[in-house]
Amino acid sequence: MAMLTLENIAVSYDQQFILKDFNLSVEKGSLISLLGPSGCGKTTTLRLIAGFLEAKEGKFALNGKDYTRVPVNKRNFGFVFQSYALFPHLSVYDNVAFGLRLRKVNKSDVDRRVRRMLDIVNLNGFEQRYPKELSGGQRQRVAIARALVIEPDLLLFDEPLSNLDANLRVNMRVEIRRIQQELGITTVYVSHDQEECFSISDQVAIMNKGIIEQLDKPSTIFKFPKIRIRGAFHRLQQFYLLR
Ligand SMILES: Nc1ncnc2c1ncn2[C@@H]1O[C@H](COP(=O)(O)OP(=O)(O)OP(=O)(O)O)[C@@H](O)[C@H]1O
Ligand SMILES: [Mg+2]
Repeated sequence: MAMLTLENIAVSYDQQFILKDFNLSVEKGSLISLLGPSGCGKTTTLRLIAGFLEAKEGKFALNGKDYTRVPVNKRNFGFVFQSYALFPHLSVYDNVAFGLRLRKVNKSDVDRRVRRMLDIVNLNGFEQRYPKELSGGQRQRVAIARALVIEPDLLLFDEPLSNLDANLRVNMRVEIRRIQQELGITTVYVSHDQEECFSISDQVAIMNKGIIEQLDKPSTIFKFPKIRIRGAFHRLQQFYLLR
């Protein structure tokens, strides 16, 4: 059963349509990535799902519930954005606890859930550190823990790894996929790094100019591409031969 559906969505800035007749459906517990060139509408799609943008037309539903007019603060979604800075004046523990305290979760539950999440992202022992005392990858893991701790109904990532160096990017994407599968959270992941998208996704949506040109499993897109994916084939071939 599709868990997340966007039906005939239209979004425009001023008079210009960025998404038009946009349709997407994502299975429960799966990770879909949106892959496409700069300006094709990836962030716009995420902002719409998050509730930061309103659709001019169309419908967005999650688990059968219509979310089209639900305000952002009533959506229990987790976000990890490229520039989603941690609170610099709060410790790692307090950064992760923030969303729970906002939701008035009692103190002992906050403690249990924060510690479990820090365990999942391998940051035990870092509770009292401040963001400036962490490496880039550790900060990113705090951001992921902060997004996950509220047990979101949906997880949204917008280029979460683009500030990290190449090695760390590979480690972190493995980690994101592990956590996502462990917790079974439906996830929409945006990147313009094709290797990243193909390696962590159940499905990839190839976007161009506000439309989805192909939506398939990575292996299907590799074998039967509807469009030419620039420069990707050699590396993808190696990836699938190694699997
Ligand atoms: N607030 C805004 N006002 C007007 N136009 C906007 C606004 N935000 C985005 N756009 C335009 O909408 C289009 C889609 O932008 P979007 O941010 O969704 O692209 P993207 O696929 O995320 O690109 P990138 O890979 O560069 O992040 C672009 O042409 C952009 O210029
Ligand atoms: Mg973007």
